[in-house]
Amino acid sequence: MKVAVVGTGYVGLVTGVVLASLGNEVVCVDNDLAKVEKLKAGIPTIYEPGIEELLQRTARENFLRFTNSISEATRSSEVVFIAVGTPPSDDGTPDLTAVRAVAREIGKAIKAYTVVVNKSTVPVGAGDLVGQIIAEQGVDPALFDVVSNPEFLREGSAIRDTLEPDRIVIGAKKPEAAAKLVELYAPLDRPTLITDLNSAELIKYASNSFLAMKISYINAISRLCEACDAKVSEVAQGMGADKRIGADFLQAGLGWGGSCFPKDVQGLIKTAEKLHYDFRLLKEVVNINDDQTLHFVHRLRTRLGGFAGKRIGLMGLSFKPNTDDIRDAKSLVIIEQIIKDGGHVSAYDPISMSHVEKIYPEVRYASNVFEVAENADAIILVTEWNEFKQLDLARLASVMRQKILFDGRRIYPPAAAERAGLELHSIGE
Ligand code: UDX
Repeated sequence: MKVAVVGTGYVGLVTGVVLASLGNEVVCVDNDLAKVEKLKAGIPTIYEPGIEELLQRTARENFLRFTNSISEATRSSEVVFIAVGTPPSDDGTPDLTAVRAVAREIGKAIKAYTVVVNKSTVPVGAGDLVGQIIAEQGVDPALFDVVSNPEFLREGSAIRDTLEPDRIVIGAKKPEAAAKLVELYAPLDRPTLITDLNSAELIKYASNSFLAMKISYINAISRLCEACDAKVSEVAQGMGADKRIGADFLQAGLGWGGSCFPKDVQGLIKTAEKLHYDFRLLKEVVNINDDQTLHFVHRLRTRLGGFAGKRIGLMGLSFKPNTDDIRDAKSLVIIEQIIKDGGHVSAYDPISMSHVEKIYPEVRYASNVFEVAENADAIILVTEWNEFKQLDLARLASVMRQKILFDGRRIYPPAAAERAGLELHSIGE
């Protein structure tokens, strides 16, 4: 099938590359010429394990190409995906400026029947909005349909998630339009759910908000565990063994961040507001998440008797492992708190240091974790990168001024810390 994907961020590029790997003729579009040139040279515009090889292979085999022209891409495709950013505006409502602009360009270019697919996370009603914008360009309604096909990929495992999704959701007004996407995804052989347009849009927000709620729930339980001398890992294990609850997303930690959960939870709160429903449950999910990081920092502040003049080492900066994404990363909140109170921060992350450096040039960026620990009064594990899991903790402790380890992701067993002579403070115990 001939497919265009507009937007080469996480969702767009991964979708384009995966569809090309299935033998479709895919053209990826971006209005940023520098990005297009990079992609043409085989260099991915995002950090994602496995993408470089797949990008280069599909391009070499002529299944994948790149352009900055939406009109050229639309005219040469039967299906056009919109996968541009919908960042939160100041009040949390998703900003649809890019979606609108792309819809206009697509509308101007349509000459033959085209299925336009919203893959960007958009509030309920955005599918209708895209349809309206295309129609305003003078396109005959018989020449296009708008379909919602939300993406559920996770950064760090985006290719596998796209090739093996738990479900494929297709929201459409007409069965013929849905059928086109069913055909496109047939090689994946995954459970496929066909719904109306609005339900598909809501499924995305409802799913991500539910997962964020699950994490906030276990984080709230972690606070109880700290107060009553219980262990959150054991509570989570006991809860997760109930099939109705399930073990996933019950990992207590510093809280959820990244490009999706914060934006989508806010997006759903705002959608609810517009529909005259006060979604108090979700507002509290956000409050618990914000508190979780601040409470952890407060525990450290209390232990050290304030941050003034103290040096704190951070292990990990990205919002989760295997990504260089620092959007809503907990590291940023922690750095801010320490610096504000007169403390000094050293940090190491395998790939995201250059991004954080642009925001906090005053942090001392190290070339490995042992350098981070040098003369530190405490060290915080912020992101659970694999390379931190089997660290020589005794070596780490040997270069520290005070041998205090705050584990924000619960990766270090108490016995290991004790053997290394480290005083361990974990979330939820
Ligand atoms: C998420 C959704 O999983 C994905 O379906 C959606 O399309 C985009 O948003 P992503 O943001 O890449 O994906 O990361 P994910 O692995 O889901 O983690 C989100 C956040 O929750 C991270 O900050 C992570 O550290 C945190 N988390 C996750 C926990 O604190 N505990 C858990 O048990 C799981």
